[in-house]
Amino acid sequence: MPAMVMDRQIADADLFARAVIEGLGQPQKTIPARYFYDKAGSELFEEITLLPEYYPTRTEIALLRAHAADIARLTGTGRTVVEFGAGSSTKTPLLLSAVRPDCYVPIDISGHFLELSAQAFAEAHADIAVLPITADFTSPVRLPATVSGPLIGFFPGSTIGNFAHSAAVDLLRSFRRTLGSGARLVIGIDLRKNVRLLETAYDDAAGVTARFNLNVLTRINSELGGTIPLDAFAHRAVWHDGLGRIEMHLEAQRDVRFCAAGQEFAMRQGETIHTENSYKYSPEEIRLLARASGWEPMAGWIDPDRLFSIHVWSADIGRIEP
Ligand code: AVI
Repeated sequence: MPAMVMDRQIADADLFARAVIEGLGQPQKTIPARYFYDKAGSELFEEITLLPEYYPTRTEIALLRAHAADIARLTGTGRTVVEFGAGSSTKTPLLLSAVRPDCYVPIDISGHFLELSAQAFAEAHADIAVLPITADFTSPVRLPATVSGPLIGFFPGSTIGNFAHSAAVDLLRSFRRTLGSGARLVIGIDLRKNVRLLETAYDDAAGVTARFNLNVLTRINSELGGTIPLDAFAHRAVWHDGLGRIEMHLEAQRDVRFCAAGQEFAMRQGETIHTENSYKYSPEEIRLLARASGWEPMAGWIDPDRLFSIHVWSADIGRIEP
């Protein structure tokens, strides 16, 4: 294995260990949601997107299919598309076939996953130059000099929902800096809705989301020498109306003691580890989010069941009205 790759793996394991020690040391124990996504976690997430209860993926795909031409009218065509994330084999081609870019730039922190998906994409779309960038897109990313604007940003999947409001504003501001003036952002955002629908979307009958949630404990056991008894934890998904978010937790079913990352931890029966927030927005909150982060909403589409939404925002704030 090349030395650079090994150094990177050691640094990643170190960050994971620090996040676990810090998160499990708090009164409300937490593990950051980004640690869901090892190979097994990414595969489980793919399975989630196909579940009957998990409406976001299929609804967003239907919205993209129905409105790709409208989106292209607002973004313009023949421009570079910058995707924040490695790209989805269904959603990305839907957008790209409508906006017909000359160049596609997927940005993702996971270099390995990015290379694989960029390679598959390049094979299927020989007419589009693909320039993958391995980077953490939560900070502004320097794009290659060959990429010139105006650019189209793409951030589907309501990934914005996994950021707290202030972090979401920072992220969207950072996108604006990365994309520059004249840019457009095409973004998918999940909507507030009936609590029952929300809670079952995050606690499906087949138990896939439960396995996805518990997988983070498996990761701690295998990567950080953990001794967490998996059978002592149960998956919980709870809607918090005041905060407008689904919270995922792992709840101890009995008093437990375990080691993780070289430290000892104890939990009482009923105590939880908070593993994820998934914020949902009303259309009015989405407009506020856009404007608070320096974007001007141009248009948005909601499916007939009012489950999910897609938006086009402009980096150019219009004239200030008197
Ligand atoms: C990736 N993200 C937008 C998903 C969501 O809906 O918040 C992650 C997820 N967690 C449980 N199910 C799906």
